[in-house]
Amino acid sequence: MSKRVLVTSALPYANGSVHLGHLVEYIQTDVYVRFRRACGDEVTYVCAADSHGTPIEVNAAKAGMAPKAFVEKYRREQHEDFKRFLVEFSTYYTTDSPENEKWAHRVYQALKARGLIYKKTVEQLYCEVDRRFLPDRFVKGTCPSCGKGGQYGDVCENCGTTYDPRELKDPRCVICNTSPVVRTSEHAYVNLRKVEPDIRRWVEAEGHLEPGVREQVKGWLADLQDWAITRDAPYFGFPVNDPDFPGKFLYVWVDAPIGYLSSAEHFFAEEAPADRRLAPGEFEASYLAEGAPSRLEHFIGKDILRFHAVFWPAMLQATGLKTPDRMAVHGHLTVNGEKMSKSRGTFVTAKTYLDAGLDPQLLRYYYAANLGPGVSDLDLSLEEFRNRINADLANNVANLASRVFALLGRLREPLDGKDANPEEAIVEAARAALHLARGAYAALEYREVVRLASDVASLCNRRMQEAKPWEEPGSPGSRALLFSVVKALRAIAVVLAPILPVFGEQLATAFGQPDPRAWPKDLDPFAGPPVVARNRPPQVPRLDAKQVAKLIAAPAEPGPQPVSKAPSPAETATRATARPVAPPPVGVIQYEDFAKVELRVGQVKGAEPVTKADKLLKLSVDVGEPEPRTIVAGIAQAYPDPQQLVGKRIVVVANLAPRPLRGITSQGMLLAAGEPPNLQVVTVGDAIAPGTRVK
Ligand code: MSP
Ligand code: ZN
Repeated sequence: MSKRVLVTSALPYANGSVHLGHLVEYIQTDVYVRFRRACGDEVTYVCAADSHGTPIEVNAAKAGMAPKAFVEKYRREQHEDFKRFLVEFSTYYTTDSPENEKWAHRVYQALKARGLIYKKTVEQLYCEVDRRFLPDRFVKGTCPSCGKGGQYGDVCENCGTTYDPRELKDPRCVICNTSPVVRTSEHAYVNLRKVEPDIRRWVEAEGHLEPGVREQVKGWLADLQDWAITRDAPYFGFPVNDPDFPGKFLYVWVDAPIGYLSSAEHFFAEEAPADRRLAPGEFEASYLAEGAPSRLEHFIGKDILRFHAVFWPAMLQATGLKTPDRMAVHGHLTVNGEKMSKSRGTFVTAKTYLDAGLDPQLLRYYYAANLGPGVSDLDLSLEEFRNRINADLANNVANLASRVFALLGRLREPLDGKDANPEEAIVEAARAALHLARGAYAALEYREVVRLASDVASLCNRRMQEAKPWEEPGSPGSRALLFSVVKALRAIAVVLAPILPVFGEQLATAFGQPDPRAWPKDLDPFAGPPVVARNRPPQVPRLDAKQVAKLIAAPAEPGPQPVSKAPSPAETATRATARPVAPPPVGVIQYEDFAKVELRVGQVKGAEPVTKADKLLKLSVDVGEPEPRTIVAGIAQAYPDPQQLVGKRIVVVANLAPRPLRGITSQGMLLAAGEPPNLQVVTVGDAIAPGTRVK
């Protein structure tokens, strides 16, 4: 039975351009939405620009623009960028809307009516030049704990101490660099302790949060602070409209999540196709009321969890609305192993990616291949990106499709029902992939989906290699294999279509499948229309390192080496004659350098965790010597069950000087690819004996 679902991604601040970090979330959500739609569910995917708050107001002023015009400019630009990455929102609205103002007041009034709001006088830093109270991030000074200068008003990046901005030494206003003074002001606070049991019930209920995330939120609940929900003028936001708090505005984090509801209401009232239009009252009854026949699912990053898992359920409960059915939390993107950084050139915007001429689907694929349901960070390693695309998409899938397509063209009799004698192994693999991918998508285990599709393609490639259907395409065996591979490719198209919408569709239609965006109900990839060669299947050009390197801008500060100039003719001449003995360019080694490394095949005889070192495994490895070697490796996160390594043939650096690790002497090193948890030890097949040299 199909379900009605309202899905949201966090609302990006209308203050800057979309970057590859944001895209982790919007791609993760969009893939989920496309998957659910393929299963026949009625999904509305809501997003909006988060338009309020001090930084936006200050930046608009700096840009010489009215805040409304400023946020509208970014809203449009962001929406365009998302569309280019095939992120298809039902609506991309704004929190600065009449609908949102109405909802924000309704929530505020509900909190008030429940006696949850009280008044408190607080002391804050105030800039007399700019005539405004300064939020934490608008004050910089010297850390009261470690003495490091240039720290923000909430936390020291050097020593990690959190403090009140008033404790900073020599505080400065970041707008004008003068010293602020302390002033008092009255604000509305929400008494969260009073509703703690209600929040806790939501947090602890099955299915709302991943277990690890749940524990983190419970930690906050154990030490619940009341929440200040008003701000002083000047502020870009909604006036509170409460005589108890004259002149105050609602804090941006009050109306931001409310933006999920108001944007959805706007969609149903004004943007939905005619047959899905709902008046606000109908929308509320169908989607928001307690017990409404629909699901509410939020996707967010780990940095905004507290707002969503503590404050937001409290706001909804107080208003008598249904609480979220699921909150999926992802980690942060790093680039080449480090936090994105403007000075290192790794703060990659959506535009930079597109300007490099890269297909947005490739990023979707790479993210999917590295995404699970947990909050661990995801690394965009340029090298892994390139390898992944080339190995999986270009070689394994696209190349298979085009080879098979060419062979179909050589058949005198087209493949139809008469060839319904497919290869059992392929049938089974394709059916299992459809079945398991469905569960994996629902569990947000996208890396598993990618693996399933890859495995089916690998099996097909292996069978092609063995059976060589190009030698005699018309033979019954070849026909059965081609039939099987085409059907398997159709299954792959369905499995990958949520991740690769255009590629999936092109792959399916190439072989005469009507629509890969419908998940086959019987999960039988071998039923369905006959096999034909209709359009050329999609190509995936191999990525080269140069193209991928375009993602990283030149660092803001030039490196120490001077930029090399074109050589003069005289220089060229001397170089030409000197070529045979010229040293290789920096970073290139001679064969002799490589030959120093003695790589050997080793068979794992035993594997066990190392006590008090949760990243390490201790392996016993036969490398063809009288005694097995002990090797300690940092691979435990990738192999939660170490036994699965036993029997594998791995590659070991055999002439590495022994070194102690946690009191154990490691007699060598093993080769592995990727970063934990998505790491794999390099293995070779059974035909190679332990001790064999790898070169
Ligand atoms: N405006 C708030 C969200 C309000 S939701 C009611 C906000 N905006 S944001 O633009 O800073 O971030 C939007 C989303 O992108 C957040 O979920 C955030 O976690 C995510 N990401 C921003 N940078 C990110 C990375 N580097 N990596 C992964 N996700 C990141 O927060
Ligand atoms: Zn100032």
